[in-house]
Amino acid sequence: MSQLPITAFVPTLALRNKRFNLFHKRVLSGCTKVRMEEKDNSKQQHRIVQSNIFNQQVENFLRPIPEAVQQRMEKIAAELLLEPQDKLMDVGCGTGAMIPFLHKYVPLSQIFLCDCSEAMLEEAKKRFPECPAIYSDFLELEKEHGNWDKLLFNAVFGNFIDQKAVLGVAYNVLKENGKILVSHPMGRSFVRQLHDKDPQMVPHLLPNQQEWQQLLKGMNMSLEYYCDESQLYIARLSK
Ligand SMILES: C[S@@+](CC[C@H](N)C(=O)[O-])C[C@H]1O[C@@H](n2cnc3c(N)ncnc32)[C@H](O)[C@@H]1O
Repeated sequence: MSQLPITAFVPTLALRNKRFNLFHKRVLSGCTKVRMEEKDNSKQQHRIVQSNIFNQQVENFLRPIPEAVQQRMEKIAAELLLEPQDKLMDVGCGTGAMIPFLHKYVPLSQIFLCDCSEAMLEEAKKRFPECPAIYSDFLELEKEHGNWDKLLFNAVFGNFIDQKAVLGVAYNVLKENGKILVSHPMGRSFVRQLHDKDPQMVPHLLPNQQEWQQLLKGMNMSLEYYCDESQLYIARLSK
């Protein structure tokens, strides 16, 4: 699956839509690239900042993960309520830290990697070649790109410039009754620290329950599970 040509992944899209001419000069081996071309310049700038930052971070993300953090990552994976047939996207997958935990529930071929940092995605793909990979800004995905059962945003939701827009895209690419999990294995206060230190990298905090209600206003999605412990944040939304 991961080695299929791009046109096999989105057969009609490549033909129909010039904007999504998925062929490109530097094809990441085995990855589908969605052309990252934003109408909104501020979003494009932000995506470039993100990829520049994270292209330099691969080594840091490959360091061994402490046992206690791994246990919290187990909990995060469990809260996705994965079924064996589910098709899942790990949005902002980085080097694929969550994949071993997700793979306990679904085959690797059903876990799609997505990242806008070339270096991060390349590393994730090297570690998990069976996972299909999409090199894209998540905000560039459209309904036609596929219908996922579950979307995971682990340690990335604060990095997006427009969280409401992220939810709009997520809604579009999710199947009916699909679920979104927004999580962080270090908790909300850790994300606040990152934000205070570098608001360009992390422009937003993780929403509290009230803020979720605001974000979800006018959207056909609901918050069905919320956990805000000192070192664990999980919010599960249902379409
Ligand atoms: C803090 S890392 C988290 C990586 C991984 N989820 C984990 O748990 O280790 C954030 C990742 O999200 C990616 N990212 C940030 N904004 C993104 C966007 N708009 N679309 C896709 N990926 C994005 C970054 O390139 C980076 O690899």
